[in-house]
Amino acid sequence: MSRNVTLPDGRPPAFSYRDLRKGVLRRSAGRVLCCDAAPIHQLAERFGTPLYVYSASTIRARMLAFRRAFENTRHTVCYSVKANSNLAILRLLLRMDCGFDVVSGGELARVLSIDRRAARKVVFSGVGKTRDEMEAGLRAGILLFNVESESELWALAECAARMRKTARIAFRVNPDVPANTHPYISTGLHKHKFGVPIGEARALYAKASGTRHLKVAGVSVHIGSQISDVEPFGATMERVATLVHQLRDDGHEIDYVDAGGGLGIPYEQRDSVDFADHVKKYSVALLKPLRELKVHLLLEPGRSIVGPAGALITTVLYRKTNNSKKFLITDAAMNDLVRPSLYNAFHEIVPVAVRKGNQQNETVDVVGPICETGDFFARDRELSIVEEGDLLAVLDAGAYGTTLSSNYNTRPRPAEVLVDRKSVKLIRRRETTADLFRSEI
Ligand code: LLP
Repeated sequence: MSRNVTLPDGRPPAFSYRDLRKGVLRRSAGRVLCCDAAPIHQLAERFGTPLYVYSASTIRARMLAFRRAFENTRHTVCYSVKANSNLAILRLLLRMDCGFDVVSGGELARVLSIDRRAARKVVFSGVGKTRDEMEAGLRAGILLFNVESESELWALAECAARMRKTARIAFRVNPDVPANTHPYISTGLHKHKFGVPIGEARALYAKASGTRHLKVAGVSVHIGSQISDVEPFGATMERVATLVHQLRDDGHEIDYVDAGGGLGIPYEQRDSVDFADHVKKYSVALLKPLRELKVHLLLEPGRSIVGPAGALITTVLYRKTNNSKKFLITDAAMNDLVRPSLYNAFHEIVPVAVRKGNQQNETVDVVGPICETGDFFARDRELSIVEEGDLLAVLDAGAYGTTLSSNYNTRPRPAEVLVDRKSVKLIRRRETTADLFRSEI
């Protein structure tokens, strides 16, 4: 692996090759892939494959990079739980004083299960909150509901009235700003289902503020995910800032601006960037339009915090050649990591052990055992030659890996391991086949 992404404090990335004998980083032959100091092959031996492996220090470093980039502004990082909702990872972030962005009663329950007091830093987003979910949020006393339609507003008002509580709200506005990302994860255009049209926001805020049990508190926005160019974030904030001025002129108290998430990561090594620089540029783009508003900024990053901190480790079951086409069939499949199948997403794949003298490459498809042609991790990819039984690491799988995984083909989901300096912790046991039909009648 030759990418040169460094962490904000100059350390190498979560996954890098080491010469075990000397315990030092080497980019020459005869190397093994490690997550921080833990050799991946040992983790695979101990926990089996497919296996998700995460680096705690990388998650912390990335979180700190956010904090530093926004240190001169009142802000709360509300980590987007959907990216990776493992309790151990939420706990780690909570210890760093993180808040959370949730989109379901289930995600809220996860956060509350680690600490009920975390509720005061929770924002609840999503176009289809049910009344049960709203009630759970009200009961817990969350910071903010991001309301996405007038119907939802009245449903929330009704729940709050019944419970004699006050719901703090922001409307999620749809700014009609294009973002250069996959169409499935772009959200900020009028043709998308998200938010309320920014032009209709003032009228909605007027309705909300006349309602007992609702307290207008902010404006929220989220234009999509995996957006690497910071310009659309800046353009969005210009529009949000204009709206905040108007709303204040209308007499509303707007304390919070929730800028959403969406900052992209470089999945391909040729796109490598220094993360601290990237977040800094992002912060400049966001903060410039907000400068005079003195709002408390909420940020909802998901992928940029956990994506590069995780890898999916898989064993090559078989090599296979159909005419001239070569396949590596792995024990992980699209049910474990669906991003390549769903978005045609690129994930770098590297061998866990690079044997001395083996520098030869070949062009292969890396595919899983599932009965679908769409079950692939890479197509026509040049990889160094590996044998049956060898391990591969699918990199940058820390975000939207496990959270999008399924039991398709009645396949148990992988175990997950968190490496934290010298400690290695199993943070989710591998599902058993019995787990998969336990709830069936
Ligand atoms: N806030 C809201 C309201 C969101 O909808 C999302 C992501 C985020 C924050 C976090 O965005 P991030 O910083 O992670 O980009 N499954 C797709 C990504 C879907 C993103 C959905 N919303 C993927 O694997 O690329």
